[in-house]
Amino acid sequence: MKTVLVTGGMGYIGSHTSVELINSNYKIIIVDNLSNSNKEVLKGIREITGKEPAFIKADCTNENEMNKVFSEHKIDAIIHFAASKAVGESVEKPLLYYKNNINSLVVILEMMRKHHVENIVFSSSCTVYGQPDNLPVTENTPRKEAESPYGNTKSICEDILNDSCKAYDAINTIALRYFNPIGAHPSALIGELPIGVPANLVPYITQTAIGIRKELSVFGNDYNTPDGSCIRDFIHVVDLAKSHVVAVRRLLNNKNKKSFKIFNIGTGKGASVLELINTFEEVNHLKLSYKIVGRREGDIEQIYADVTLANEELGWKAESSLAETLQSAWKWEQNYRSKNKN
Ligand code: NAD
Ligand code: WQD
Repeated sequence: MKTVLVTGGMGYIGSHTSVELINSNYKIIIVDNLSNSNKEVLKGIREITGKEPAFIKADCTNENEMNKVFSEHKIDAIIHFAASKAVGESVEKPLLYYKNNINSLVVILEMMRKHHVENIVFSSSCTVYGQPDNLPVTENTPRKEAESPYGNTKSICEDILNDSCKAYDAINTIALRYFNPIGAHPSALIGELPIGVPANLVPYITQTAIGIRKELSVFGNDYNTPDGSCIRDFIHVVDLAKSHVVAVRRLLNNKNKKSFKIFNIGTGKGASVLELINTFEEVNHLKLSYKIVGRREGDIEQIYADVTLANEELGWKAESSLAETLQSAWKWEQNYRSKNKN
């Protein structure tokens, strides 16, 4: 049985990926400093899979702590999710973002070299494309100057990985550029748990629907899109999680080291903010309180992925419909709130 180290495995995407890895017969070790998650997530993973994953509370930027993890476990591959991810916060606290996101990757790569671990999957983001000139974006679409320090960390980390693959004999990398992950595990036992007021659309919608927020603000209906609202490629987090399992498998089977591959991970279809709201209302049989307000600074008008490469080379494809995905998001919000009434 192969062992995968999942950094940031207690977080939103990491927890769903941990479930899919366990279900695909990998042994996993989760390392997380719990800066944006809590230990309850382990219970959810255990209830879904019937297995207790190994969990180590440690910080990926801390060389001593990471050295201990790598010394005490035989690791075959790493999925590096651990990072700070709030775009707005990164504008206010850029150094925190550069320190956490860059240092954690550098420390992990150093540990890989020291302990002879060859395979790493990295969480990148469609943010590296900015507002592209042509849609859909392929992996060859040029990256744009980052709109935020957070986005810049993703571009820099891709470069660090690329340079490391060129320089060192035994580093084998896949960077997955996620589009907009939403939804939750169908069991509603794990899901997205934003701290404070959600910055992202779907958690804001579900919190409004359950009554925690009064009203959703739709940021702009004067964009050059069919209904005037922004367009994104919203992908079910479970589909996204599954792409990591195939990426790990590909790395483990790849005898050709020094390889750095990038894949877009989305559905390949764009949906507008208003379309998403309508679908949410329809499939969950409720009315959402929302109003149209001005544009949000820094938002791009539209983006969606060309996923041909992931379909053909990874043999992976997103399967869930937007309707199913939004049902899972609502089920998770309801289940979580019913269990956590203050
Ligand atoms: P998340 O915040 O839910 O999960 C990240 C986890 O990493 C958290 O549990 C946090 O406690 C942990 N962490 C942060 N810094 C750490 C450190 N130094 N050491 C150990 N643990 C640390 O975020 P997520 O949405 O699950 O995102 C996972 C990854 O995917 C991130 O790298 C993020 O940038 C990237 N990504 C996310 C999205 C998105 O929309 N959610 C889109 C594209 C890319
Ligand atoms: C989606 C759409 C908003 C909230 C962010 C990061 C990106 C990536 C994914 C990590 C936009 C609109 C939102 C609200 C709204 N993350 N909206 N009212 O901005 O596409 O991407 O997450 O790598 O880097 O920037 O996602 O969910 O914030 O917004 O109208 O209350 O919903 O304007 O058009 P975004 P989002």
